[in-house]
Amino acid sequence: MILHSHLDSWLETRRRLTGQSIGFVPTMGALHAGHVSLIERARRENEIVVLSIFVNPTQFDDPGDLAQYPKTLESDLEMARKSGCDHVIFPNERQMYPDGYRYRVSENELSKILCGAHRLGHFDGVLTVVLKLLHIAQPTRAYFGEKDFQQLELVRGMVKSFFLPVEIVSCAIVREGDGLAMSSRNTRLSHVDRKHAPHFHQILTQAANADEARRALTEDGFDVDYVEDIAFGPSTRRFGAVRMGPVRLIDNCEVQR
Ligand code: PAF
Repeated sequence: MILHSHLDSWLETRRRLTGQSIGFVPTMGALHAGHVSLIERARRENEIVVLSIFVNPTQFDDPGDLAQYPKTLESDLEMARKSGCDHVIFPNERQMYPDGYRYRVSENELSKILCGAHRLGHFDGVLTVVLKLLHIAQPTRAYFGEKDFQQLELVRGMVKSFFLPVEIVSCAIVREGDGLAMSSRNTRLSHVDRKHAPHFHQILTQAANADEARRALTEDGFDVDYVEDIAFGPSTRRFGAVRMGPVRLIDNCEVQR
């Protein structure tokens, strides 16, 4: 596995990788089994697997959340190696934002609801960094998890709108044994909150409608940001976000309407 802490090193390598399929997994580090499933799928479907680790400051609306975001580079690299990555790119902020974020991508509909309504500017930051990363990695396929379903749909839309030559591959949510969706933020839950957290998924999937889910979550002690049912093509998904102390959890599932 080759490490690239500088973009020039990766771009030099990329110029030589012609004619081989490249699977790309963009991450903010603090890797867990959900990321490993993306890497393993990329491994199965491509000749070369590239992982990026960059905690993107522009997608955080809360400086406290950015400061608390887990940074575990050594164990991330170990996990990347074991899961079969060929290259890991981990640039710093100066390299990723030579323009100081003067240039950015924004979307005006889907990015304004759900998480976008609660985390101002979040999706501008996500789309901008994903566009940069796709130009940097120049992959055949890029892998995104369905836990961040809104992000996935926005990335798909951006790729289509800007004619980017990459296939976006969506991967099912990976859950803990008790149903909690895997997230880098789970490690920041207190012991008590971690035991309570699986109720989020249970209530979200079992409630008859979004209003009932919101009410049941609140009664169960969650601080609810939102629960909404939204149609995506032929299916309807229920999206939820809750806060447990300083930690914000999101999840989603398909529902019958
Ligand atoms: O899903 C994430 O980890 C991030 O939003 C991403 C796609 C790596 C962009 O920073």
